[in-house]
Amino acid sequence: MQRRLITTSASETYELGRRMGGNLEPGDILALFGELGSGKTCFTQGLCAGLGIPRKRVISPTYAFVHEYEGRLPVLHLDLYRIDNLEDALDLDVMEYLSRGEGGIVVIEWADRIMPLLDEDTIQVIFNVVTSRKREILVSGREGALDRLVPGEHARG
Ligand SMILES: Nc1ncnc2c1ncn2[C@@H]1O[C@H](COP(=O)(O)OP(=O)(O)OP(=O)(O)O)[C@@H](O)[C@H]1O
Ligand SMILES: [Mg+2]
Repeated sequence: MQRRLITTSASETYELGRRMGGNLEPGDILALFGELGSGKTCFTQGLCAGLGIPRKRVISPTYAFVHEYEGRLPVLHLDLYRIDNLEDALDLDVMEYLSRGEGGIVVIEWADRIMPLLDEDTIQVIFNVVTSRKREILVSGREGALDRLVPGEHARG
């Protein structure tokens, strides 16, 4: 199952994330895909806002590679940009982070780095840059998760 959304500003992408964040449940894992500057962090800030975590706390953990936030649910925010291969990811105990998500939420930027480690319950969010301000956002996952996170009236196109 897949839902397609279009946003035409960073604040719309943030708002989309915020609405989804309000409906997240413990154990949800979101894998984000998309080139540099496509909106992954902006979306994650919205998602966290939906869980009651202030936007300014949420920055891409490019150097630390993982940040933890405490909101309505705990959030692990991973950024795997600098990880070149699966072996490096495993050395950094990415599997451990994925399983710790059980009581909380895991959000992974540059999830393509660990594609083989993602299970079929993972919610995948692809960010395609259409123009400097327009993004096509494709959310896929199980039907139940999509109904909860991207209710029909929010999906366009
Ligand atoms: N519709 C849009 N949605 C999201 N961001 C947008 C949009 N239009 C313009 N932007 C701009 O694109 C940039 C997105 O940056 P952001 O850090 O969220 O990207 P990213 O995918 O996390 O990049 P990186 O891979 O470097 O972590 C911001 O500068 C934002 O203002
Ligand atoms: Mg980012």
